[in-house]
Amino acid sequence: MGKSKILVTGGLGFIGSHTTVELIRAGYEVVIVDDLSNASEKVLDNIEKIASIRPEFHAFDLCEESRVFDLFARHPDMDMVIHFAASKAVGESVENPLLYYHNNLYSLINVMRALKGKQHKIVFSSSCTVYGQPEILPVTEGTPFQPAESPYGNTKQICEEILRDTCKAYPDQQVISLRYFNPVGADASALIGELPIGTPANLVPFITQTAVGIRKELSVFGNDYNTPDGTAIRDFIHVTDLAKAHVLALDRMLKGKQKSNFEFYNLGTGKGYSVLEAITSFERVTGVKVNYKIVGRRSGDIEKIYADTGMADVELGWKPELGLDDMMRSAWRWQQYIQQHPELTAT
Ligand code: WQD
Repeated sequence: MGKSKILVTGGLGFIGSHTTVELIRAGYEVVIVDDLSNASEKVLDNIEKIASIRPEFHAFDLCEESRVFDLFARHPDMDMVIHFAASKAVGESVENPLLYYHNNLYSLINVMRALKGKQHKIVFSSSCTVYGQPEILPVTEGTPFQPAESPYGNTKQICEEILRDTCKAYPDQQVISLRYFNPVGADASALIGELPIGTPANLVPFITQTAVGIRKELSVFGNDYNTPDGTAIRDFIHVTDLAKAHVLALDRMLKGKQKSNFEFYNLGTGKGYSVLEAITSFERVTGVKVNYKIVGRRSGDIEKIYADTGMADVELGWKPELGLDDMMRSAWRWQQYIQQHPELTAT
C-alpha cells in the first residue's frame, strides 16, 4: 500500500515545518503549498536534512482558486489537509483587517471547495485567541467564546464556524480544529524554527534576539497585572509537541474514532508561566542575561490564559513532553543557527 498523501498548507512556516517533519517520520507523503509571504524556500532544504525526504513543494497563494483546484486535480488521491496557511500578526490585523479576512477566509474556503464531494479530512490551525479573556481558568473546550479582540482572532472564530456548518452539511467531511496556546521553541536539530520577519512581535523571538544582541532591550509589557509577579501569564507549548498532536489528530480520523465529524482540542501544557518566569528560564538554561525593562501594558493583551488539556490527553492520547526550559534552550540554539545562516532571513 502507498503512503497516505497529505497537503500541508503553510508547510514552510513555523508550525508547518515542524509538523511536516513529524508527518514524514510517521510515514506520510507530504505536499506543501506556501506562498512564501512569511517563510523562506530554504526551509525545504532543512526539512530534507532532518527527515531525509524532500516534500513536493508549490509556491502559490491559496486565495488563487484555480491553482488550488489544479493541485487537487493533479493529486486525485490527496484527501487530507492540514491547513496552517494564514496571516497571523494580531497587531497587523487591526491595521489591515481586509487583508486578514481575505487571506484567512478565502484560503480555507478554496481548499474546502476543492475537496467537496469526496470523503476528506482537514486538520485546522486554530488558536486560543478564540476564547478572548475567559472568566474561568483553565480554559476547557467548552469555555464560551468571548467576542474576538482582533480581526485575526475573529478570522479563527469564523473559520471554526465555517468548519462546523460544513461538517453538518457534508457528513463525508471530517475535521479536527486544534487550538494552539503559545507555540515556542524549535526542533531538536536546530535546523528549523520560527523566522520572524523584521522586529518580532512575540516574546520568545524577542528574548533570543535581545540575548544575541540584535535588539538592545526587551520591553516587558506591564507588571501591574493581577498575577503573582505582576506580569502576564501564558501557556507556552513546545512546537515539537504541537507538531506531534497533528499526527495524532490524523490517526484519530483515519481510524474513525471521532465522536462527531467536527472536533476541537486545546493544545497547551496546562501550566501558566509569567513573562518574567519565561525570561528567568531562558537566562538559567543559557547562562545569558536578557536586558529588559518594564514598560506599560501592550494594548489588546489579556492578563492570563492557560489550557485544560484533558480532552487532548483522553481523546488524542497526546501529552506534551517538553517543558519551559526545553523551549528556551531550543529557541536559543535556533537563534544561534540563524546567526550563522543569514541566507535564511534574507529577503
Ligand atoms: C506573550 C506575552 C506580551 C513581547 C499568542 C500568539 C499570537 C496569537 C495569540 C496565535 C504577552 C508579552 C511580548 C515583548 C512582552 N496566537 N511580551 N514583550 O500575545 O500571547 O499571542 O497568542 O494564534 O500569534 O503569539 O503572545 O508572544 O506576543 O506575548 O512583554 O516584546 O509576552 O505582552 O503578555 P500572545 P506574545
